[in-house]
Amino acid sequence: MSTYDEWKQILSGIPLPAVFVDLDAFDRNIKRFVEAARAVSTRHSIRLATKSVRVPALIRRVLDSGMPFRGLMCYAATEAAFLAQQGFDDLLVAYPTRQASDVAALKQVHASGKTIRQMVDSLDTARVISAGMEGVNRPFEIAIDIDMSLRMAGGRVHLGVRRSPIRSVEQAVELIRQINRLPNLRCRSVMGYEAQVAGLADQNPFKRTISPIVRLIRQKSRSRVSDFRRRLSEQLEKEGTPLELFNGGGSGSVNFTAAEPWLTELTIGSGLLCSHYFSYFSNIAPEPACFFALQTTRSSDPGFMTCAGGGYIASGEPGWEKVPLPYLPEGLKLVSMEGCGEVQTPLIVPRGSSLKAGDPVLFRHSKAGELAEHFNQYHLVSGNQVVDVVPTYRGLGQCFLG
Ligand SMILES: Cc1ncc(COP(=O)(O)O)c(C=O)c1O
Repeated sequence: MSTYDEWKQILSGIPLPAVFVDLDAFDRNIKRFVEAARAVSTRHSIRLATKSVRVPALIRRVLDSGMPFRGLMCYAATEAAFLAQQGFDDLLVAYPTRQASDVAALKQVHASGKTIRQMVDSLDTARVISAGMEGVNRPFEIAIDIDMSLRMAGGRVHLGVRRSPIRSVEQAVELIRQINRLPNLRCRSVMGYEAQVAGLADQNPFKRTISPIVRLIRQKSRSRVSDFRRRLSEQLEKEGTPLELFNGGGSGSVNFTAAEPWLTELTIGSGLLCSHYFSYFSNIAPEPACFFALQTTRSSDPGFMTCAGGGYIASGEPGWEKVPLPYLPEGLKLVSMEGCGEVQTPLIVPRGSSLKAGDPVLFRHSKAGELAEHFNQYHLVSGNQVVDVVPTYRGLGQCFLG
């Protein structure tokens, strides 16, 4: 990991704001996650969540790493079509769509001979896709999304994401059966994402008081999730329709999810760039690999320094954990009344700091992929040198969900 002085050298002459990916750290993270999974089981392949990268050159780097990464988990049909054009294959669109334009995009990729699957969680949505696939020369692959949230008190307590209504083995089996009866479709794939384990940090410094509750939720969920996925897999085997693809997990659950032999693959994304939220899980240990740098432009008072830019707030439940974190030089703090602003970000500078106007400050984004929506290019750094500058989706003129 480079020091602040080394970063200053790396950044010199580059107009800020700019994003920097430490490729050495990124590669080490790839290895770390694979080793964490492999320490538990060697049977799963790993699917890369593209939403957590959004830079084709980095997506390619992961797939070419020689590690067991196979295929991409995409977040939009149009994204999958774009990635197919860029030469990628084995695309799982993990979130449903009902738009004719999206179905047309899926159909085009399918017709090109590539492997693409679309997630659904209702027969109604499957029917929309079935109708749109009229005329295909081989069935289009559908995957179903099962709800892995922790529900208690008859559903009055719901801990997890609100996505799929498929919550029992019977419902899942029935949906798969019905989808397989629709024209132009085939369903042998299931995804069950345990968001309240894989995406819920148990050492979040911004929510210390609820950490014990989070640990309890994660612990209780793990056995229920595992049990549900095992029962579903067994039932489908019994029915004579074993799953060809069974996806689970995320960066925050890699070593838990890998313990399930009935899954065929795990998903990993955010942990590779390691946005700051992914430093708050007790069971994974990635290192920061992605930073944005701002220039300091002025000082309103002694002990304060203001940067240009910085308001790259992450999506999800609002809170300080969604705000970028000053990283280097050490000891800088955000001003609570302003946070990271639309065009200005003031910082509290620690006593004795030599930071002066014009110096750069490095930050970490809360989420791994969303930063790419603010920048056209990422600077790739290795051995304290910028070795390449590569376009983000945005830099390639692409914006899939706005
Ligand atoms: C369906 C699904 N699988 C897996 C993940 C995990 O991705 P990451 O490793 O980037 O947290 C997510 C993240 O939201 C998801 O929605």
